[in-house]
Formats: sequence, structure tokens, C-alpha cells
Amino acid sequence: MSTPPKRVEHALTDKGYVPVYTTAVVEQPWASYSETDHATWATLFARQQEILPQRASRAFLDNLTRMQMRPDVIPKFDDLNIALRQTTGWELVGVEGLLPELTFFDHLANRRFPVTWWIRKPEQLDYLSEPDLFHDLFGHVPLLMEPVFADYMQAYGKGGVKAHAIGADALTHLTRLYWYTVEFGLIREPDGLRIYGSGIVSSKGESIHCLESPAPNRIGFDLRRIMRTRYRIDTFQKTYFVIDSFDQLMDATRPDFAPIYAELAAQDSIPAGDVLSSDHVFHSGSGEGWLNDGDV
Ligand SMILES: [Fe+2]
Repeated sequence: MSTPPKRVEHALTDKGYVPVYTTAVVEQPWASYSETDHATWATLFARQQEILPQRASRAFLDNLTRMQMRPDVIPKFDDLNIALRQTTGWELVGVEGLLPELTFFDHLANRRFPVTWWIRKPEQLDYLSEPDLFHDLFGHVPLLMEPVFADYMQAYGKGGVKAHAIGADALTHLTRLYWYTVEFGLIREPDGLRIYGSGIVSSKGESIHCLESPAPNRIGFDLRRIMRTRYRIDTFQKTYFVIDSFDQLMDATRPDFAPIYAELAAQDSIPAGDVLSSDHVFHSGSGEGWLNDGDV
């Protein structure tokens, strides 16, 4: 019998939580989930089911239904993989925690999506600093069923492998793109702005905040602008970027980024909450509740 997978969480130090990386690919130890684990999944799933119908993108909602994730117990990766392989050729692989960048990019470049096998504790329903099973599965996997978005994710992985070889600044620029699209992106639909970012759809508080609060900026997608923009890892975002379609995202990321990284190297980064005169502004944030420092 093989060793059970580990639960690799961020470490609490005197500087706060610091990431701990792990590279193993593991079998999902489904039989070892406790009643509490399943109840945590069910609670989080029910909360998001209640608030997302008027807030999440059509693509997210339709694919969530198509995937038939079970609301009452933690889904089995093997079951979801049957639907995923048939529609877009993606596959979920179990991991023990946060992956080093290059390992993560390599998985995406090969249409494998790493999913943390373990779920947060009941006292972490509203926030935890690292990705867990609910974030990875509920937040990310429905859109892997969407063909154009699925291609974008693979293109991002390939871009990540290249950026890693170019250097730290290139990686910083590319990471911001992932953050402001895959994790915290909004999309314009006929009835208004909707959520597609997984960091938002897996968070009750941010699902409401990103669309309804006057505090954050909502600004039209612009590749170079996003690559220059710092972001928050400890609070809701100060700025959300809005795409018109997944095709727009895919088209913007088709060119080779190497000349863009070179161009951006000479430009300053932009604080997370700034609005520029060149921005297409859907909403200029009131800034209420913002902390002055702490952008990464
Ligand atoms: Fe994520």
C-alpha cells in the first residue's frame, strides 16, 4: 500500500504565512475524507450556489451544471476527468499543496490541472491563504470545460515555461496576467458584469464585493496595463479587469510575450488601486477600506 498523501499547508512564522512548496502528484485519497470534510464542501457549495446565479458568467454556470459536481460530498477527480477528457482533453491531477512555478506551468502546458486533494477546516470557510480543494475544484475546473478558456490555460502554461527561462521580471509580468484574469477576472455580458475568476467564485465575500461594492475599480482588459499592475494577496482586490469574451483573452495572449517583457522592463509598475487616463473605466473605485501599503 502506498503512503497516504500529505497535507502541505503554508507555514505560520513571525512574518505571517509563508508558502511551502511541494511537487508530488498523488491519488485522491477519497475514502479518507471525514464527515467534516464532506460537510465543509457541502456548505461552501451551497453558499456559492445561492449567490452565483446572478453574478457568475454564463460559461461558469453552464459548465458547473454540465460537470455534475456533487453538492453534498467531495467529488471524485476520476469522475470529473471523464467529462473533462471528453470535452476539452484536460485532466485533473491531485497535489499536496502549492507547486513551484515551473512545475505548475508544466502541468498546464500539458493540459493537466493540479488540484489540492485536501479541503480547508470549518473555521476557514471565509478565508485561507493558500489554494485548497474547494478553490481548485469549484473555482477553476468548470471553465476548463469551456474550449477557448481551456486553450487559454494551456497557452498560459506554455508562456510560463518560456517566462521562467527569461527571468524573474518576465515571470512577475506573466503572473499578474494570471492573477487578473484566471483568478480575479470579470467579463461583460448582455445583462452586466459577471465573474469568471476562480479566486472570486470560490469566495462568498469577494463574489459580492467585486460587483456590488463602490470601493474597487472596474477597468477594461488591457494586456500591458495588467502586466504592470501590482495586486493584493491579503485583501479583496482594489481593481478588477473586465474582458468582453474569452476570445479577446486568447487573442491578446497569442503573440510572443518576449518583446512585451522587454518593453515593460523600462516601465514602472502601477499600484493596485490606480486609475490611468488611458484606462477604459467601467467604475472608478471609491477606495473605501483600502490599505495604503501591501501591494505585491
Ligand atoms: Fe487558483
